[in-house]
Amino acid sequence: MSAPTMDPGTAMTTLLSPQGKRDPYPLYEALRQYGPILPLGPGHLLVTGHQECARALREPALLSTDADVQDSVLPGWREHSSWRWLTKNMLFSNNPDHDRYRRFFSVAFTPRRIADLRPVVEERITALVERLAGLGADGAPVDFMAEFAFRVPMAVMGELLGIPEAEQPGFRDGIGAITTSLEPIRDLAQLLPGDAAMDEFAVYFSDLVAKRRAEPGPDIVSEMVRLRDENGALSEEELVANFMLLLVAGTEAPMDLIGNALRLALEHPGHAERLRQDPSLAPGWIEETLRFDPAAQILNRVAARDTDFFGMPVPEGGKLTLLIAAGNRDPRRYTDPGVFDPGREGNHALTLSGGAHYCLGAGLARMQAEIALPAVLRRLPGLALAGEPTFRDQIVQRGFGQLPVKCG
Ligand code: HEM
Repeated sequence: MSAPTMDPGTAMTTLLSPQGKRDPYPLYEALRQYGPILPLGPGHLLVTGHQECARALREPALLSTDADVQDSVLPGWREHSSWRWLTKNMLFSNNPDHDRYRRFFSVAFTPRRIADLRPVVEERITALVERLAGLGADGAPVDFMAEFAFRVPMAVMGELLGIPEAEQPGFRDGIGAITTSLEPIRDLAQLLPGDAAMDEFAVYFSDLVAKRRAEPGPDIVSEMVRLRDENGALSEEELVANFMLLLVAGTEAPMDLIGNALRLALEHPGHAERLRQDPSLAPGWIEETLRFDPAAQILNRVAARDTDFFGMPVPEGGKLTLLIAAGNRDPRRYTDPGVFDPGREGNHALTLSGGAHYCLGAGLARMQAEIALPAVLRRLPGLALAGEPTFRDQIVQRGFGQLPVKCG
């Protein structure tokens, strides 16, 4: 092992700076030089190893950030509606609530249900690619993120949740604001934009629930309201909280996946040409995008009790910061981890998590990205960057703000 080039504190501070958010990967390598698990402060471990992150995600003694955990790590959070609602959804709950929520919503995301959605997803993507081609027909730059990468998952979630097409673009800013609540919080005022968006969405979804209860449709809101009313498994608030999770989780990260996959295509024209010729290569491309440049970079866990993690003691309440994007480039797990190789065998990215909280929408996210990317490349073979992309000021859920392209 070579001598460390940067001390861990500096690497972490830089990671949270605009420069670190733009290009976190050299910082992960600097941290990896201290080994796969690195004590960062009293009761706080930083995890960069693939196997170590994977184990942490599956370890029942390590909890997701629920309301009790938040009381110890973010005093004052109860004044903020973003986190008040977040802690009522499955992602930020632990058992027994987590099982109860997850079981309830899983029926809508079985492989069969996802496969049944495929023709609708294909139809929506074809229409959105045509729209993109139309917007760029005069050679003017188009923001790929706003005009395509966001619209694809928003159309899919809109279809599932029964959100009318005309209303869909209006959700983008609010969804983005809510994801900023997941960033490391230094000042509670950082939560205000997420609070405002969450309040607005809560009204929207409470109304939607009432409407679908009165007049059911083919969407999952109608289905879930009916199930809830039959079996009482969830409170009305829990139902609304989890619909909001589905909307936010189901759009922002898939948007980033599609944006990152396209940027990689523009940077690797040889690979992109092969994909254009043979769309059956898309699953490998999307899996490698998830590994190489993941939409989700960091996950957090807190110890429910005194425990041991790969020989390191973790006290009750101790924190583990899982740098899953670093785990995805662990040289013990992958050959040439810093190389984008869409033909890579045996990919197993940590990006969709693992264990109890394994992404409920993983199949749906993969399906839409696998359809969307070759559709764009085939319809718009001359697509090219039209300016420097910008990054959002985020690292937990990292992605482009704008990705200007010319459609050729
Ligand atoms: C590339 C796209 C996506 C990425 C990178 C992603 C990532 C993740 C991650 C990392 C987690 C778990 C976090 C943790 O363990 O603390 C998660 C959970 C979840 N995701 Fe996704 N996700 C994506 C797409 C989707 C889609 C399309 C949906 C919706 C249909 C969705 C719905 C969910 C839900 C409901 C959970 C909570 C599961 C639970 O707590 O049991 N995600 N996702």
